[in-house]
Amino acid sequence: MRARITGTGSYVPERVLTNADLERMVATSDEWIVERTGIRERRIAAPGEAASDLGLRAAERALEAAGVAPSELDLVLAATCTGDHPLPSTACLIQHRLGAARAAACDLGAACCGFVYALSVAEAYVKTGLRRVLVVGTEVMSAITDWTDRSTCVLFGDGAGAVVVSPSEDERGILSTHLHADGSLWDLICVPGGGSRLPVSEKVLAEGRQYIKMKGNETFKVAVKTLEETAREALAAHGLSVADLDLYVPHQANVRIIKAVAARLGLPMEKVVLNMDRYGNTSAASIPLALDEAVRSGRVRAGGLVMLGAFGSGLTWASAVIRW
Ligand code: ACO
Repeated sequence: MRARITGTGSYVPERVLTNADLERMVATSDEWIVERTGIRERRIAAPGEAASDLGLRAAERALEAAGVAPSELDLVLAATCTGDHPLPSTACLIQHRLGAARAAACDLGAACCGFVYALSVAEAYVKTGLRRVLVVGTEVMSAITDWTDRSTCVLFGDGAGAVVVSPSEDERGILSTHLHADGSLWDLICVPGGGSRLPVSEKVLAEGRQYIKMKGNETFKVAVKTLEETAREALAAHGLSVADLDLYVPHQANVRIIKAVAARLGLPMEKVVLNMDRYGNTSAASIPLALDEAVRSGRVRAGGLVMLGAFGSGLTWASAVIRW
């Protein structure tokens, strides 16, 4: 028996922060940002707007698309690294506000890979008997962004995406997921302060250690290599080739990473979903947000072969192959 995505939804905050806006904040240029990343603008949450607020809206849309009532949900999983609070989980807040009283709820932390990891957990639970699992990827990256650091602040944005996973009645569904991690590379992308290693203190705040730090150049190289590897292993697991793919939905971190991966795979860019020009890198929200846009614009056809590819802090990388 397979698990299948029966509905998708997404939500982004109203406020748009353009590259021109960033030119007024740090020493950067629209030309540099577009050329090096492909990003033109990103959405920023309003003051007081948190990950559960965005995730709730995306979840409502996914449930509506799936024709599933909140009361029918068995489990709510939220993939996020910018949850409302250190505790309770953002999933519990979404569960409560949806009125999904029967559902268990917890968060899953795998940074930009969080959605694919959570989808894999949902798939496993559906295969062992759960009927309706909600998977939400939601991030307010602006809350952990150092707006004086030009090497990171041009990259990130806020948003949310969600899917409902249920048992499939035919051959369609999630064919497999492949998950990987290499914790020896933990410091390529990290938020050093604010956790138990370095609790919040005046010193931590003064040094800006509550913000995301990234070794961009090293991350770039690992991202290209791991995304290619996990795409190939995912296809090989089913005796499929790159030519069989109808759509590739990669994590939206940098258009140059995605183009390099597509070139290595021999995949035409027409089959690749790109939206980082409008949203930047929304971490765990990036893939479900791009997937929802692709579904709603008719790019995903019934029976089509869709592949998701993610990488992020941890370091983690993952893929999923779906017969839609
Ligand atoms: N504007 C202008 N110049 C800049 C900016 C900026 N915003 N940022 C950096 N520069 C400068 C640097 O200072 C450097 O100048 P120098 O040569 O005088 O020292 C120069 O541009 C080149 O910097 P690089 O870091 O080598 O630039 P690169 O081409 O690698 O692009 C980038 C940087 C965009 C960050 C890229 O490395 C990247 O996308 N990396 C991967 C990011 C990623 O995918 N992260 C994973 C997910 S995040 C998560 O998990 C939460």
